[in-house]
Amino acid sequence: MIAEALQYLATAALTGRAYRRFVRYSVNLWSRAGRCGRAWAAHEASSKDAMRAAMSDLRQRRTAVVLGSGLLRDVPIGDLAASFDTLVLVDLVHLASVRLWLKAKGYRNVRLIERDLSGYDDLKAGRDVEPLGFLRSVPYLDFVVSANLLSQIGRGVKRRYEADAPSDMPADTVERLIAAHIQGLSDLPCRTCLVTDISYAVIDRTGKVHEEADLMHGVALPEAKVRWDWPVAPLGEESRDYQIVHKVIAGW
Ligand SMILES: C[S@@+](CC[C@H](N)C(=O)[O-])C[C@H]1O[C@@H](n2cnc3c(N)ncnc32)[C@H](O)[C@@H]1O
Repeated sequence: MIAEALQYLATAALTGRAYRRFVRYSVNLWSRAGRCGRAWAAHEASSKDAMRAAMSDLRQRRTAVVLGSGLLRDVPIGDLAASFDTLVLVDLVHLASVRLWLKAKGYRNVRLIERDLSGYDDLKAGRDVEPLGFLRSVPYLDFVVSANLLSQIGRGVKRRYEADAPSDMPADTVERLIAAHIQGLSDLPCRTCLVTDISYAVIDRTGKVHEEADLMHGVALPEAKVRWDWPVAPLGEESRDYQIVHKVIAGW
C-alpha cells in the first residue's frame, strides 16, 4: 500500500494535468503485474519475441515508436534502444518508477510522450478520426509497435462512452475507434507490429469456461502470425475458484 501511494504521488507530480486522472489505472496495473509476475512471464516473453521478430530484418533503424509502452514489461526495451537511433515511448502515463529505471539505464535516445491514442476527443468534436495521424510528423520513422494497448483503448473508450451517456457519440464508438487504430497502423509507411489481447474467458478449476467476451467488439483483425494465452488473473488473483485468461495475437 505504501509503495502504491508513493508511486501514485510521484507519478501524478510528473504527469501533465490532462492525464493525471489515468495515473491510478497505471498504478493498479503496476501492482497487479507485480503480484502476477510469474503467471505473466510467458506472455511477456512471447510479446517481446514477436516484436524482435518483427524488427529483425529491418534495414533502416532510425526511429521506432512504442504505442502503449506502459510498464515496459512486454517490450524488448534494451533491444529497441540499442537498435534504433531514437526510441519514442507513447502512453497516457509514464510511471515514476519507469522514468527512474530509464534514467538509471542511461538510455539517452529514449523520448517519452504522454498522449491519448484512442481518438475519442476527435470523434466527439466531429473531426477526422486519425488517432495515429501524429506519427506522420515523426521524422525517419522505421518501426511502430502497438504493445498490448488495443484492448485497453476499447475498455477506456467504453468506460468514457458510458460515462458521457446520453450524448451525441455514435452507438458504434468503441468499434470505430478500435478499427481506426488498426487502420492507422496499416496506413503507416513503415514496418508495424500489432500485439493485442483479443478475448477473455472466465475458467473454473475443472477447465470449464463460464463466460467469454470479444475484446475487439467484432472488429476484423489483420492476420496473426503468432497466438498465445495470457492468464491475466490466475487462480487466487480475483477468485480462488476462477481464473481469467486472455487470448493474444501478434502480427507484423
Ligand atoms: C496492458 S498495458 C500495456 C503494457 C506495456 N506494453 C508493458 O510493456 O508493460 C496497456 C497500456 O496502454 C495504456 N493505454 C490505455 N489506453 C490508452 C490510450 N487511450 N492512449 C494511450 N495509452 C493508453 C495504459 O496506460 C497501459 O500502459
